[in-house]
Amino acid sequence: MTITAAVSGASGYAGGEVLRLLANHPEIEIGAITAHSSAGSRLGELQPHLLSLADRVIAETTPENLAGHDVVFLALPHGASAEVAAALPEGTLVIDAGADHRLEDPEAWFRFYRSEHAGTWPYGLPELPLGGGHTQRERLVGARRIAVPGCYPTSALLALTPGFAAGLLEPDDVVIVSASGTSGAGKSAKPHLLGSEVMGSMSPYGVGGGHRHTPEIEQGLSNAAGAPVTVSFTPTLAPMSRGILTTATARVKEGVDGASLRAAWEAAYGPERFVHLLPTGQWPATQMVLGSNNVALQLAFDEHAGRVIVSSVIDNLTKGTAGGAVQSMNIALGLDEGAGLAQLGVAP
Ligand SMILES: NC(=O)c1ccc[n+]([C@@H]2O[C@H](COP(=O)([O-])OP(=O)(O)OC[C@H]3O[C@@H](n4cnc5c(N)ncnc54)[C@H](OP(=O)(O)O)[C@@H]3O)[C@@H](O)[C@H]2O)c1
Repeated sequence: MTITAAVSGASGYAGGEVLRLLANHPEIEIGAITAHSSAGSRLGELQPHLLSLADRVIAETTPENLAGHDVVFLALPHGASAEVAAALPEGTLVIDAGADHRLEDPEAWFRFYRSEHAGTWPYGLPELPLGGGHTQRERLVGARRIAVPGCYPTSALLALTPGFAAGLLEPDDVVIVSASGTSGAGKSAKPHLLGSEVMGSMSPYGVGGGHRHTPEIEQGLSNAAGAPVTVSFTPTLAPMSRGILTTATARVKEGVDGASLRAAWEAAYGPERFVHLLPTGQWPATQMVLGSNNVALQLAFDEHAGRVIVSSVIDNLTKGTAGGAVQSMNIALGLDEGAGLAQLGVAP
């Protein structure tokens, strides 16, 4: 039986990547393709790389246009998903790439987004260790609403949760710095994202605890630790179109050594097909994972500082958004978890 999927936000980066993956998915037929100001345009004008869909005409994002499909992907600015999702039937699998349904704490939502909390959906990060040998995957089986993680949280949570789930890390001294390519900020024109501003230059932003992904990272780490975890998170903008490199460090508990740290990460990700702990001494680079749904990680124990240092890389548009969304869809619908998802990156 063919499964139909509608994609909103189809003119944007996240929606375009969802379409790229679905066009290669063996079980999915792409139905309505919708957006906002570009409604009425040919998709080929806005996403010229999606040649097989070039003549499809973009419709307006309305519940009516999205209804009647088995799956609906929402790739809209945050705040725009909740109303559309609420108007879709309960039996439709709705997968939100935006932030609206990720946070469990309404106060944290209000503090960072300044609007009413729309509720919490199962979190679309299947490999996330939950402690006790459980993973987030179990909560996605049969789900009909899924909140895809933010791109920085995907890289940061996969970097550190094995250590918290295994009880090896202190919860009050976590520092995370991430470098992201410019596509993480979306496709709409912004002066600071002009080529002449970004090429050959790197800069921090959202410094001092203000970035909206901070509560999402704290939520995932706290759930794994079973106690509140405090995070200092600093994102930076890197001169590349795709990719995130995260460097995450935490103080280890008394008596923890390098071997027990490595064993925890190996146990968490050994069975995973998309999360790769690299051989000791090999460090990840963003180019390794471009265009794929992979995450590559490495860790080191800095004995002098008493800290674990973990580097992780993802493609923000693939594992960091659309890949995570398609992987979660596959699990929810009982399909092969890797259907439609590339396991090989593009290099050089
Ligand atoms: N970019 C990433 O790496 C990334 C990673 C993780 C999560 N996300 C999330 O994915 C969502 C989309 O991000 P993006 O990077 O794809 O942004 P984008 O490139 O700016 O695209 C935004 C899309 O939303 C549509 N849109 C704009 N205003 C709308 C409205 N009021 N109602 C309905 N549709 C509207 C736009 O349509 P028109 O162009 O036709 O106006 C466009 O298709 C965001 O919530 C973002 O946080 C993005």
